[in-house]
Amino acid sequence: MKMKAIIRTKYGSPDVLQFKEVEKPIPKDNEVLVKVYAASVNVDDLEHLRGTFAVRLIGPLKPKYKILGSDIAGRVEAVGRNIQQFQPGDDIFGDLTDYGFGAFAEYVCVPEDALVLKPVSMKFEEAATVTSRAAIAMRYLFAKRKIEQGQKVLVNGAGGGVGTFAVQIAKYFGADVTGVDSAEKLDMLRSIGADHVIDYTKEDFTRNGQIYDLIIDVAAHHSILDYKRALSSTGIYLIVGGSRTAILQALFIGPLISMTGSKKMGIPMKPSKREDLVFVKELIESGKVVPVIDRRYSLSETAKALRYLEEGKQRGKIVITVEQN
Ligand SMILES: NC(=O)c1ccc[n+]([C@@H]2O[C@H](COP(=O)([O-])OP(=O)(O)OC[C@H]3O[C@@H](n4cnc5c(N)ncnc54)[C@H](OP(=O)(O)O)[C@@H]3O)[C@@H](O)[C@H]2O)c1
Repeated sequence: MKMKAIIRTKYGSPDVLQFKEVEKPIPKDNEVLVKVYAASVNVDDLEHLRGTFAVRLIGPLKPKYKILGSDIAGRVEAVGRNIQQFQPGDDIFGDLTDYGFGAFAEYVCVPEDALVLKPVSMKFEEAATVTSRAAIAMRYLFAKRKIEQGQKVLVNGAGGGVGTFAVQIAKYFGADVTGVDSAEKLDMLRSIGADHVIDYTKEDFTRNGQIYDLIIDVAAHHSILDYKRALSSTGIYLIVGGSRTAILQALFIGPLISMTGSKKMGIPMKPSKREDLVFVKELIESGKVVPVIDRRYSLSETAKALRYLEEGKQRGKIVITVEQN
């Protein structure tokens, strides 16, 4: 049996992606065969596509994963003999980042730990935006301590995949939230609950005299000492992504700052938890968190979707919808 998929055999720009017929996968004993209804694109797909330094550690000459895509939503078509939690016909969503990717295809085989049952009220395309980004947002928001009512939380790079979830979840827990991003995303940030917004092209939040109890930084470009200045006396600063220098400073100088004072800075090393996804699913079901979708592309247009993501103009998430025959 054949299926359609977006494949690549070498590193490069979105131009190396091909929309092709390949063998439909057969689930192993511990796998679920998912018919993909929707996926979403992430910066991680671009990093694997182009082959960044970290990616080439696992595939120096050729890409390890032929089919990219980590965030999926779809329907279980078949299950391996050891599968306990799912059965054919179940609607699911999940994150394939730790399971070899493969979402940009009509079908993918996945271990059940990567999947969660999709609520009936959530559309497939909404569910496909949730997994990896909401999981990162949860992991970072609660990496060190609980968020308390009135705490001042700043999300830098708030208008993208991780940020739109981080803003809404922090609001749900009663934080006073500041979202930092470019001017065209600020209205959207207000609409999802940000109490304050900052256009990073006009104002440097590390130099405006404000201090925060928690800074989640999706787009770190300042020195770690600038960020330290923007923290309250027991404030926490955590990097999700950013420049190589900023990440190295967080990795090596962050622990020194954390050990020698009351401010904590760095990168949380804990893995994502499935319970976090289940929790976000409940927030979405109850309308407390709303997935923000910018654009939709069909599976055959995945290269276009990745080019658009590379431009950095997206508000929230970019979805791939898979046509159902
Ligand atoms: N730590 C982890 O476990 C982990 C796991 C996976 C991925 N990541 C990292 O997560 C990051 C991607 O997160 P995402 O999916 O949320 O990305 P995204 O959707 O691309 O969002 C990033 C946002 O940051 C904004 N931005 C860019 N430069 C900025 C600046 N100087 N100041 C403030 N905002 C800025 C962008 O807007 P404009 O372009 O309009 O400026 C965009 O809205 C990547 O760096 C990736 O490597 C981390």
